[in-house]
Amino acid sequence: MKNRAGSAKERKQARQPKEPPETDIPSPSSTEELLRKKDAFLANISHELRTPMHGILSFSRFGMQNVQSAPREKLARYFEQINTSANRLMDLLNDLLDLSKNAGGKHLYHFQSHDLIDLINAVVLEFNASIREKQLSLYLERPAFPVTLECDGPKIRQVISNLLTNAIKYSYPGGSILYTFHRHPDPDNPNDECLALKIADEGIGIPHGELETIFDKFAQSSYSQTGAGGTGLGLAISREIIHAHRGHVRAEHNPAGGGAVFCVTLPIHQKEANHAPTAARG
Ligand SMILES: Nc1ncnc2c1ncn2[C@@H]1O[C@H](COP(=O)(O)OP(=O)(O)OP(=O)(O)O)[C@@H](O)[C@H]1O
Ligand SMILES: [Mg+2]
Repeated sequence: MKNRAGSAKERKQARQPKEPPETDIPSPSSTEELLRKKDAFLANISHELRTPMHGILSFSRFGMQNVQSAPREKLARYFEQINTSANRLMDLLNDLLDLSKNAGGKHLYHFQSHDLIDLINAVVLEFNASIREKQLSLYLERPAFPVTLECDGPKIRQVISNLLTNAIKYSYPGGSILYTFHRHPDPDNPNDECLALKIADEGIGIPHGELETIFDKFAQSSYSQTGAGGTGLGLAISREIIHAHRGHVRAEHNPAGGGAVFCVTLPIHQKEANHAPTAARG
């Protein structure tokens, strides 16, 4: 990688006995919306599970039917196809497990001090082969301030990995990817600061009206639906992880390169040693 120079206001509620008490019971319209989302989710997931399952079943059937007569190379190809489909299925199930752990609040986060650049370097090392294969240039603008923060290292590494995989996947060959950092006061806590990490690419970009919806489960933008691969869960999982850190993430257009920019903002300190995901913010 190349371096570049580089209260909550507690309102005392006046007692108003006439107002109905607040409850968690959803209104009929939000129940309808939830049911609609559940149906869409089930339809998507059945499709995503069926495709690799179909591969496994058909190639194993071909193998069984031709085990005596087919040349060894052909049988080896069937095994490869079965293996590829099974791996895809496993990735999908792992992603779904991650999402359900987060949604159920069952996952405990272990916050420790981590240097963001160390986490990025570890991920970049992992993806060096695909970066080179696509002849991409990766730049990191070294900040003049420390980028150490309290976070769950493996989880933030997973976010960095999802964002870098996307930047690589949706870049044109020969393009650039740039990491930059910013530090600013925490809007939710006057005694703390936030670190913002931006990853900008020069790839296909994201349509204007889809900068928010690409974070939904199984969502793919209309620029990439035609088979860039993937299940559309990476950003949904990343956003859950970032919310569990009381941070937020957004997508923008890259004014410099015409691609996409993802901006992740995280507080430097976590209030509690372990906590389940909190309310969503951006
Ligand atoms: N850097 C990017 N440039 C352009 N489009 C992007 C970028 N990152 C994400 N997207 C769009 O957002 C969609 C959702 O991204 P997400 O990472 O959730 O899913 P995915 O990459 O399709 O699959 P996977 O579950 O394997 O990550 C992508 O399908 C793509 O349309
Ligand atoms: Mg992805």
